[in-house]
Amino acid sequence: MTSLSKAYRSPGKLTEYLPDPCEPIDRWFQARNASNVRTTARIVRDLCPAADLFVDPLAGGGSSACAARLLGLPFFGIELDPLLACVCLAKSTAESGHARAVPPLVIPDQPLASCLSVTRRMSASTEHPVSDHEILADLADSPCASAKSRVLWGDATQAEVWDELPEEARHAVLYTSPPFGLSSPRPQAPPGLRAEAELALVAAKAARSGIGPGTFASYDQIASTVVLRAAHRLRRLTVILEHEPADDGSDSRLPAIRRLTDALGGRIRDIRILECGAYSPRGLFSLIVCEVVQ
Ligand SMILES: C[S@@+](CC[C@H](N)C(=O)[O-])C[C@H]1O[C@@H](n2cnc3c(N)ncnc32)[C@H](O)[C@@H]1O
Repeated sequence: MTSLSKAYRSPGKLTEYLPDPCEPIDRWFQARNASNVRTTARIVRDLCPAADLFVDPLAGGGSSACAARLLGLPFFGIELDPLLACVCLAKSTAESGHARAVPPLVIPDQPLASCLSVTRRMSASTEHPVSDHEILADLADSPCASAKSRVLWGDATQAEVWDELPEEARHAVLYTSPPFGLSSPRPQAPPGLRAEAELALVAAKAARSGIGPGTFASYDQIASTVVLRAAHRLRRLTVILEHEPADDGSDSRLPAIRRLTDALGGRIRDIRILECGAYSPRGLFSLIVCEVVQ
């Protein structure tokens, strides 16, 4: 049984939907399709106050990683694109010590500072490049990273990539923004930086097998596959999926819910669609929310 609610209002306006270019740590580099960190944190606090682990299997440039950091939760993220995986890893795990001497190039025995170096060079090619001073100030003013956080570069639809999920979590929240169209826009990068990002991820022991093409038949296919991977390993899970219509205007909310109920049967409860508002030309933004129990 699915219930539809028009009462939930987060995000309630465009500024709460778009990423904030001043958000500490997140401002180091924001992907074109990034979410708003504070809105994500508020949604998770509202809908899953008991969460002890934040999972985002389609982690992009790390808005969820920043939200987890704000909430003081360990983060488990997976991202297919090496540049974004590097940025996400830096946002999730960097501390001031890594930022004091960011190397100009990747140095294998300094993996975290190297991911920060890739992130800073990604930022340098944008309209608002972040300075070393701002990176240090953000880290000094922000909550510490959880020592249990992990970010992996891999294909989240493959079972092996989930091997390192901290299974001791009592109640995880899976918040993610699956690609709404047929493929995600890849970030632009200066020549050679993609290869350096790959090197940094290998040095950080974050590279995993099963790196696929990154395009999928549908929103409902990728969304349901990553939820099933998490549900296979975790006892209790609150699932929150961002949804907007696809490029052709099609609505994937009910097909995604159908796939999940077919696969999870009695384990899935309290399925809700929370409609928020229309913030992009794609149309209505909603959250698909459900509980997965043992
Ligand atoms: C809508 S974006 C997420 C945006 C994210 N919230 C951020 O702050 O950047 C979806 C992401 O899923 C990634 N992705 C697509 N297929 C994937 C897969 N099979 N495994 C892991 N990541 C994948 C894309 O590369 C893209 O970065």
